[in-house]
Amino acid sequence: MTTETTETTTAGATAGRPLLDVRDLTVTYASGAAAVRGVDLSVAAGQKLGVAGESGCGKSTLALALLRLLPAGTKVTGEIQLDGEDVLTMKWGRVRAVRWAGASIVFQGAMHSLNAVHRIGDQIAEPILLHKKATPAGAKKKARELLEHVGLPGARADAYPHELSGGQRQRVMIAMALACDPRLIVADEPTTALDVMIQAQILRLIEQLVAEQDLGLIMISHDLAVLSDTCDRLAVMYAGRVVEEGPAREVYERARHPYGKALSAAFPRIGDLSSRFAPQGLPGDPPDPSALPSGCTFHPRCPEAIASCSTDDQALRAAGPARRAACVHVGAEAEGAARPADQVVEGAP
Ligand SMILES: Nc1ncnc2c1ncn2[C@@H]1O[C@H](COP(=O)(O)OP(=O)(O)O)[C@@H](O)[C@H]1O
Ligand code: SF4
Ligand SMILES: [Mg+2]
Repeated sequence: MTTETTETTTAGATAGRPLLDVRDLTVTYASGAAAVRGVDLSVAAGQKLGVAGESGCGKSTLALALLRLLPAGTKVTGEIQLDGEDVLTMKWGRVRAVRWAGASIVFQGAMHSLNAVHRIGDQIAEPILLHKKATPAGAKKKARELLEHVGLPGARADAYPHELSGGQRQRVMIAMALACDPRLIVADEPTTALDVMIQAQILRLIEQLVAEQDLGLIMISHDLAVLSDTCDRLAVMYAGRVVEEGPAREVYERARHPYGKALSAAFPRIGDLSSRFAPQGLPGDPPDPSALPSGCTFHPRCPEAIASCSTDDQALRAAGPARRAACVHVGAEAEGAARPADQVVEGAP
């Protein structure tokens, strides 16, 4: 999937070069699970890319690969250029620095990511001390400033994680991710564990920070409605591949790939708790990446499948201006061929 690359003028990025440029990224776990298969994507400074898909589609694997956080023994091929540096070939010392100052990740479930026995101010200050060569007093001051920046009183620096609510802890995670002034934030299901009101607040905070600091953002979620509300562009992943991508609103409102349609139908609006889980009307689960179906990997679940879908794999192809989708019907539509009515489902609400 290739997102539009806009001219970047922020210091450090060359005009025209995206902040993050991923080419043909493939990740195979030691178990043989092909969790990410040939993903292309790019993100410019100030751009927000949403990555959607059900659980097990390879979203977190993609996020972890970007910062080389995958377990030893995992095979990763392709290219990951972050601000012009090749992440996959850089030395470990550089990778550790890049993890904070180049790109940082906000994970789901802040309680598990924060250390329960350390004050949150000290946890935020630690990477500043390590990577920004700050004095202890300077790092402490910056930690308090960061807390205020994410909407918490600086005095909360002395609190332990268990003294904060879920939403406050997620704000701390965001403060920590910002500690070393990264260029790119990867937010993996940052609001999934939060209730709807807090979820909206955290999303607005992330949006505000991205705009203020001209950051690139990759926001990962199973919830297409949340992504379409927050992001500029959307990539829908299925079985380790991007199967649809384009401007966020258009993908959400007029998905072209049958899987994109099913996901849109499953998340009619932000905060609809009744539809937060599996796509409605779509039987089964994403396939086991160690035993992928032949042809189009979506064919066993696809309401629009035709005979050739079980044998013919489909590459991403043009599906309108700045849009691509990997489905046999998309090419046929572009050529003006009509689809049989009994093979068409209306997925979008
Ligand atoms: N450490 C691992 N070893 C082997 N398989 C894994 C590992 N982590 C994830 N997987 C598998 O890779 C696939 C993609 O997982 P993941 O990237 O976590 O998807 P998502 O974030 O979209 O839910 C799943 O089938 C999962 O079981
Ligand atoms: S190629 Fe066939 S199985 Fe795959 S999404 Fe399109 S219609 Fe469905
Ligand atoms: Mg995940």
